[in-house]
Amino acid sequence: MVKHIDLSKFQARGVETCFHGRHQGPQIVAGLDGSNWHLHDYVARGGYSALRKILGQDGVSGNEGGMTQDQVIAEMKLSALRGRGGAGFPTGLKWSFMPRMFPGAKYLVCNSDEGEPGTCKDRDILLYNPHIVIEGMAIAAYAMGIKTGYNYIHGEIFEAYERFEAALEEARAAGFLGDNILGSSHSFQLHAFHGFGAYICGEETALLESLEGKKGQPRFKPPFPASFGLYGKPTTINNTETFAAVPWIINNGGQKYLECGKPNNGGTKLFSVVGDVERPGNYEIPLGTPFAQLLELAGGVRGGALKAVIPGGSSAPVLPAKTMMDVTMDYDSIAKAGSMLGSGAVIVMNDSRCMVKSLLRLSYFYQHESCGQCTPCREGTGWLWRVVDRIEHGKGRADDLALLDSVAFNIKGRTICALGDAAAMPVEGMLKHFRDEFAYHVEHKTCMVPQYV
Ligand SMILES: Cc1cc2nc3c(=O)[nH]c(=O)nc-3n(C[C@H](O)[C@H](O)[C@H](O)COP(=O)(O)O)c2cc1C
Ligand code: SF4
Repeated sequence: MVKHIDLSKFQARGVETCFHGRHQGPQIVAGLDGSNWHLHDYVARGGYSALRKILGQDGVSGNEGGMTQDQVIAEMKLSALRGRGGAGFPTGLKWSFMPRMFPGAKYLVCNSDEGEPGTCKDRDILLYNPHIVIEGMAIAAYAMGIKTGYNYIHGEIFEAYERFEAALEEARAAGFLGDNILGSSHSFQLHAFHGFGAYICGEETALLESLEGKKGQPRFKPPFPASFGLYGKPTTINNTETFAAVPWIINNGGQKYLECGKPNNGGTKLFSVVGDVERPGNYEIPLGTPFAQLLELAGGVRGGALKAVIPGGSSAPVLPAKTMMDVTMDYDSIAKAGSMLGSGAVIVMNDSRCMVKSLLRLSYFYQHESCGQCTPCREGTGWLWRVVDRIEHGKGRADDLALLDSVAFNIKGRTICALGDAAAMPVEGMLKHFRDEFAYHVEHKTCMVPQYV
């Protein structure tokens, strides 16, 4: 029997999910004010020039032939753009997996499902700059010889869905989408799809199932979507922010994009800085920027001293303050420190935060979102939650920490999709760095952390 938890005590206070105009070298959010999302605003900012460039329609002498598919993919590889959906897979490499000569239908899918707790960047890209995603997808479609695409937009953000639909209408009317784009031989039909609001629908194969009108449950892999994707056809799926990075790369070249970040971590990235900071919101900064600088952009820690940070969305293992103050915000640096950059949500916790209570909130989420297909995840996530729940409520047992270690260990790597790992990793991180807090709860039936917030 599933016990219900009182969610009211976890409600966030004063969280803004907007851009604050405090970015460094922005490429996606430069000059956005919330009203200038229309096609004419985007074109005034240089929008659709990358699409014109690849199609040889930019009026630049010598570029009448545009770029070949191989040239576009080569620039993407050179850029070292890594997928912004969580796994950080190299985008150019992913595009090269698409069997371009496959005779039947092939699909391009944008993953705007964005359900990872703490993450709120894709919805703002769609609201503030929808055409950058459309242009990125049109370029990707050209590079991979795809004629049909879908943007799967999270079911609980209807405004973003409506905004994207409106932008699609503008792009179609102006000839940037549809048959023979800008008079070229490139045709691409793009549609918005309003999703179902489940976290698991962000997992790429669950998303495809959902897009096909079925229950959003992950598929066994292999086969991977590049060979068996939407309706069983070759499909490339990328995150919203990944597509939004493409026009800048094509306009300025892969090398310049790479140089904006650091080797193997090209470009800028949007970070959703949330939790105990003065100015929560989305910040675009070059990969490789010190965490301390990002924290400063977000106004510093609110309500106390820095205790810990979850650097890449709720699935990423927590890191203590001291470690975080030494890392730079990029895939490799965060991995070396023992966590992951993930979706780029940076959850900041001050020294009034109880780690048992924090883990309880996370464990509740994962057991709630498990799709139930595989036993280690279905049973294990509920088990983790129930054990943390009893520790938090003064009913912890002497062997509970060892039990948490064991359950987390036995979920990881034994499930169909990565939600199992995502549920286990926060537990491992909390026990690695804050085990004493859990042990204190078990022994004294109360919390050792001063609760002043
Ligand atoms: C449980 C789960 C949820 C996910 N949710 C999202 C999501 O909301 N958005 C997203 O882009 N990727 C999400 N992913 C990752 C996708 O499966 C996929 O790797 C990604 O969309 C690929 O795009 P990228 O290469 O541009 O990162 C999720 C993965 C898992 C396991
Ligand atoms: S790991 Fe969890 S969410 Fe993923 S398929 Fe298995 S039960 Fe479903």
